[in-house]
Amino acid sequence: MKGIVFNLLEAVVRRDHGDDVWEALLEQASVDGAYTSLGNYPDDEITRLVGAAAAALDMSPDDVVRWFGRNALPLLAKKHPHFFDAHKSTRPFLLALNDVIHSEVRKLYPGADVPVFTYDTSSPDVLLMYYRSHRKMCALAEGFIEATAAHYDEEISLDQPECMKRGDERCVLRVSVRKPRP
Ligand code: HEM
Repeated sequence: MKGIVFNLLEAVVRRDHGDDVWEALLEQASVDGAYTSLGNYPDDEITRLVGAAAAALDMSPDDVVRWFGRNALPLLAKKHPHFFDAHKSTRPFLLALNDVIHSEVRKLYPGADVPVFTYDTSSPDVLLMYYRSHRKMCALAEGFIEATAAHYDEEISLDQPECMKRGDERCVLRVSVRKPRP
């Protein structure tokens, strides 16, 4: 996992829960916390940090990851505004994830192991995104998608009729725009 992900986790934990909580999580997870954005670190370290945060904040690990995604995406939008400025709403942004956004991310953060989504666009109102990854971070995708809708001032409903965490072969993220941008 790229160091940028750890940097974002540190930023949102410090901001919302304080420096002491971040220091305690590092200790609990037995990691030193020295992450550089372009470095590569074992996935296991993010799993341990999320586990420590879940215990400290009395949340499930998936809720921690979802919260993290929701709060980290606005920081990514500040760092890389061009990805967001290129679109006017959530759906076209999500459809650009593989070919533009994550493919650019691979160049910006060499060695990034980003997921590839496939789509069902047969309905103009409901976008289905199929996700498969050994990391099973669909909760991160959920948090990112929710924050993307907030970025574009849209209200969406989001659920997962299928999920690898419930034993399905893949996750299906169902995104319906309830209230488009005014
Ligand atoms: C709604 C939009 C997005 C979704 C749903 C999404 C989804 C994900 C997911 C689920 C992962 C975890 C890796 C895995 O599953 O194997 C991931 C990794 C990552 N994404 Fe995205 N992403 C989004 C937007 C972005 C944007 C805008 C950026 C940067 C500007 C970005 C940069 C990254 C990076 C750096 C990683 C880490 C890769 C690694 O550590 O190897 N993503 N993304």
